[in-house]
Amino acid sequence: MKFYLLVVLILLGFVSTHRISYDGYKAFRIRPTTISQLKTLSSLSKKPGFDFWNIPRVINKSIDVLVAPDLLESFQTYLKTNHIIYHVLIENYQEVIQIENVALKSKRLREDVSFKKYMTYEQIVNYLKTLAKKYPDIVTVQSIGNTENNRSIPLIKISTGGSNKPAILIDAGIHAREWIAPPVALYTIQQLVENATNIRLIQNVDWLIVPVLNPDGYTYTFNNDRLWRKNRSPGRRCYGADINRNFDFHWMEGGASAYECEETYAGSKGFSELEAQALRDFILANSENIKLYLTFHSYGEYMLYPWGYTSDLPDDEPELRTLGTAVADAIEKASTIGTSYTIGTSTNVLYEAAGGSDDWTKGVGGVQLSYTIELPGGGSEGFNPPTRKILPVVRETWEGIKLYQAYIEKKFAN
Ligand code: ARG
Ligand code: ZN
Repeated sequence: MKFYLLVVLILLGFVSTHRISYDGYKAFRIRPTTISQLKTLSSLSKKPGFDFWNIPRVINKSIDVLVAPDLLESFQTYLKTNHIIYHVLIENYQEVIQIENVALKSKRLREDVSFKKYMTYEQIVNYLKTLAKKYPDIVTVQSIGNTENNRSIPLIKISTGGSNKPAILIDAGIHAREWIAPPVALYTIQQLVENATNIRLIQNVDWLIVPVLNPDGYTYTFNNDRLWRKNRSPGRRCYGADINRNFDFHWMEGGASAYECEETYAGSKGFSELEAQALRDFILANSENIKLYLTFHSYGEYMLYPWGYTSDLPDDEPELRTLGTAVADAIEKASTIGTSYTIGTSTNVLYEAAGGSDDWTKGVGGVQLSYTIELPGGGSEGFNPPTRKILPVVRETWEGIKLYQAYIEKKFAN
């Protein structure tokens, strides 16, 4: 009897740990058609209660925004009186989260990887450790640094040995809520380590993969706020800096906020954040070998390359574009969900945003080929793909990653 009581208490604790509820929050898909509409929407994006899932930048492109219950009436009136095209994407965002929570089921540690659900940070770490034990000849796991809340940032190295091989560096999960990104890194790891038919992919190229670069933020999205984006470093008024605005290369020159409470807060100075420091130090220590950097985000289906701080093009833009286009084509050809990538420099096809990891890696870190990949989102289901879409997304993206590998092998391996 006592045992059952304990179980019930634990379950209750599990569902009620100060979790932010999005009950009554509605997501809209809107399409501004004039500059003035765009301007008003941009000004709203700084207000609390509005969470723009993509930043309003150009007219005639749809924008998804989540609106708090108390603002719904005035927002809808605003849309109607200004004749802005819109529809309700999600009636009640809490219901989407509820469905995800059911899919999460247990946070029990497991040895294997899963693409049927989103794994917790602990489960991911445990999987990496299991691989290191099972495949000691090709796998090593190390920590590249610790976070504010003392979690380690794990990096898995997959290598058949030998020195001076070209390496591919991949990270995912810089932004906590972009849950589809870590599975792409995990699928890459699984395919390289556990699928023997892929042996040729690791013969001449080393792989360095950080599946969760922001463990504190990621954990916070599981336990407290599903839509948390930043890390969890404490500030004076608000928690968290946007790690992808914190890299010290043209830091704070545009598209980043100096205000702590905003989603794109760039930190108190370049490299003030532990996660950005950890990645910087690892790249600098391995810059001889790293030939390609891929950082996974969501959502939007963009294949982005530098620069993000200026609309000027890098000298080697043609190479970045040609390679990015070939990869995007391969992904689209493999896609079962209608994925379609837009390719270009971050500033020109998305928006200006300085302090990104991609820009620093290329501009300072000495890695010529650097890409940010904005994976597909959940479509009508919002920010994140529902769990049944994890596998289609990771599979199609893997087809692109293989093409990147072939390019690096051809260009750099002897
Ligand atoms: N959605 C990403 C972000 O806002 C895009 C980053 C692209 N890279 C850049 N340096 N702006 O962080
Ligand atoms: Zn992101």
